[in-house]
Amino acid sequence: MTQQTRQIVLASRPEAEPGPENFRLEPTTLADPGPGEVLVRVIWMSLDPYMRGRMSAAKSYVPPIEIDAPMNAGCVAEVISSGDPSLAPGDVVYGLMPWAEHALVPAREVKRVEPGAAPLAAWLGVLGMPGMTAWTGLNRIAAAQPGETIVVSAATGAVGSLAAQLARRKGMRVIGVAGGAAKCARAVQEYGCHVCLDHRAAPDARTLSDQIKAAAPDGVDVYFENVGGKTLEAVIPRMNVHGRIAVCGTIAWYSGVDNPPPLPPVWRTVLTRRLRIEGFIVFDHYAHTPEFLAEVQPLVAAGQIKWRETIADGLDAAPAAFMGLLQGKNDGKQLVRIGADPG
Ligand SMILES: NC(=O)c1ccc[n+]([C@@H]2O[C@H](COP(=O)([O-])OP(=O)(O)OC[C@H]3O[C@@H](n4cnc5c(N)ncnc54)[C@H](OP(=O)(O)O)[C@@H]3O)[C@@H](O)[C@H]2O)c1
Repeated sequence: MTQQTRQIVLASRPEAEPGPENFRLEPTTLADPGPGEVLVRVIWMSLDPYMRGRMSAAKSYVPPIEIDAPMNAGCVAEVISSGDPSLAPGDVVYGLMPWAEHALVPAREVKRVEPGAAPLAAWLGVLGMPGMTAWTGLNRIAAAQPGETIVVSAATGAVGSLAAQLARRKGMRVIGVAGGAAKCARAVQEYGCHVCLDHRAAPDARTLSDQIKAAAPDGVDVYFENVGGKTLEAVIPRMNVHGRIAVCGTIAWYSGVDNPPPLPPVWRTVLTRRLRIEGFIVFDHYAHTPEFLAEVQPLVAAGQIKWRETIADGLDAAPAAFMGLLQGKNDGKQLVRIGADPG
């Protein structure tokens, strides 16, 4: 028996900011699961900034999505029929799936959700890829230490909000950077930032840099870099000797809107301050997921970690929600609710 469903494919490649014309919602039919496959009903779908890169033909760390192929995303889903002995109907799993209401996926490429450990959507956020990214950048890349000062950009986002909280729990001085007064207030009240600076209110990098200096008179030891653009330009002059920059993301440049600043002034500071700058992609560190979960899962269970979600309802709403994410309209983890949680 086949399964009728709907999916969203990449209709064309965006030149700059993606628009509705770049996506197409279409019906499709899925076959019964073959050996090693499971047919799932998608419950939650995660939207993440890296998807903008996959819409472009430019070479990157993952291949581009082909035109007319489905977009894909981290999803939580319920197995409705299984061709693999390791999974049965009713099991809830998470993994990479198409933007769709149902999907046929290899059983070995999904993980079973630990029942009752956390709300299901948390496996796409604080306990999932963004959470692991925050933990990795802070610990494995920046080697952040108690007593140091850290700047976290996109400080209320899925990655930044956990990075800020883990940094605060380590005993660091935490300076957040976020867009708008409401997000900045939340960064301080909920995510453990001592101070949060509004990059949208600062007219230029110089102003933001002066604000960072006032907030961190002894300089910055670690920069958790999520955005590039004006914020990066502002932070670099404030870095201390032997400072570390964990380059996690550069969302300001993803749509080619805010061009990279000229390199030379920054480059000389790297030398004079003996900075260590390291880019990382979370999937290279997945072998360390048990260490991440051992630290963060008990904190989540005890209610000691806070997070927010922005939820779009239904597959049809995904393109607009994704465009909003790239413009900072989301507040915390951007999700799409595709189906009901299992009853
Ligand atoms: N390296 C990896 O393996 C890895 C894994 C996951 C995510 N990432 C990266 O980590 C970063 C954060 O991801 P996330 O999932 O936590 O996203 P997110 O924070 O939920 O959403 C992106 C946020 O970026 C901010 N932003 C957008 N345009 C900006 C601009 N021009 N200048 C400054 N800030 C801007 C907005 O917040 P404001 O309103 O506060 O400006 C927006 O809400 C992204 O760059 C993403 O690509 C990397």
